[in-house]
Amino acid sequence: MSERTFAMIKPDGVKRGLTAEILRRIEHKGYRVVGLKLYQIPREVAENHYGEHSDKPFFGELVDFITSGPVVAIALEGENAIAGWRSMMGATNPANAAPGTIRGDFATSMGENVSHGSDSPESAERELALFFSDSELIK
Ligand code: CMP
Repeated sequence: MSERTFAMIKPDGVKRGLTAEILRRIEHKGYRVVGLKLYQIPREVAENHYGEHSDKPFFGELVDFITSGPVVAIALEGENAIAGWRSMMGATNPANAAPGTIRGDFATSMGENVSHGSDSPESAERELALFFSDSELIK
């Protein structure tokens, strides 16, 4: 089933010059990029985006990090794009991320793990709406 998901290159990925490499992987995989922007996330948007982690001890650190520099926000479309993009990223903890995945190849810490992807259709819908207005998405 074709579906849309929200992908993000986090500030560490942008700072390290991994944007083109990650977009290359997305395009080579065959996903259609239907939204794309460089974006300095306002603190309120970051707190909303990570709302489900608000009671975790690392919440403050997470919000500080994600607002520490611009991210690349990406809307992707394709067959099983939600699970497929998460599989391309690899495990959240880079120590468990397989070589060949984005985190396996480029990330070394749990907090600074280069990329993000929605984990369900409900999160994809919520996150796409949080980061993109309708007019910024290709039909
Ligand atoms: P992401 O998938 O973007 O969404 C939640 C984020 O929380 C996750 O990536 C990690 O970067 C971060 N995270 C999860 N566990 C920890 C942790 N123990 N310490 C710091 N950050 C964490």
